Amino acid sequence: MFNRNFAALILFFMDRIKVYDKTFVPYIPHDELMGCIDKVAEEINRDYAGAEDVPVVLCILNGSIMFTGELMQRLNFPCQLVSTKMTSYVGTSTTGEVKQTMPLTASLKGRRVIVTEDIVDTGLTLVALKKILEEEGASDVKICTMLFKKDAYRANEKIDYIGKEIPNRFILGFGLDYNELGRNLRDIYVLED
Ligand code: IMP
Ligand code: MG
Repeated sequence: MFNRNFAALILFFMDRIKVYDKTFVPYIPHDELMGCIDKVAEEINRDYAGAEDVPVVLCILNGSIMFTGELMQRLNFPCQLVSTKMTSYVGTSTTGEVKQTMPLTASLKGRRVIVTEDIVDTGLTLVALKKILEEEGASDVKICTMLFKKDAYRANEKIDYIGKEIPNRFILGFGLDYNELGRNLRDIYVLED
């Protein structure tokens, strides 16, 4: 008994992750993330079944790279991967200013687009992105996000596919970073209180 508790304590301690000055604790395990991705993939497959065009999956780099990769493996209609990079976060909060730091890798004129985001927080990125896609001449835009911080959301854009709603806390892992570290973690961690 003593040994088992002792082992659990050590495991808990070893599960914590320190990145720079901050400590993160386990939050969403990989298997749960896979379940969320299964769910959104099912919804998208249902909505795009029999598509005669080739819809575009638009990966918002860098955060969405893991999510987009997993999602695309589950899509069962012909689709094209396009990427762009949007930047707004420094450290653990948004700067309030969104910049497109890498242009679209292909034209989206006349194309149906499914935007894939790792997380929607304030929604500022989405607003900036919608404007870019309008100017670009996309024929239809749907938004798909793995995670959604509902209480932080300040935009009016409709979010069409949501993997999981989470509280307004800073998280790390599975593509999401803290000053560019932590993207390679398989699970998602949350900043310790
Ligand atoms: P928004 O523009 O405020 O909606 O923020 C969107 C972007 O900020 C996301 O695509 C992420 O790259 C980043 N972001 C938001 N919340 C977090 C977080 O908790 N951890 C790491 N990055 C985040
Ligand atoms: Mg992002």
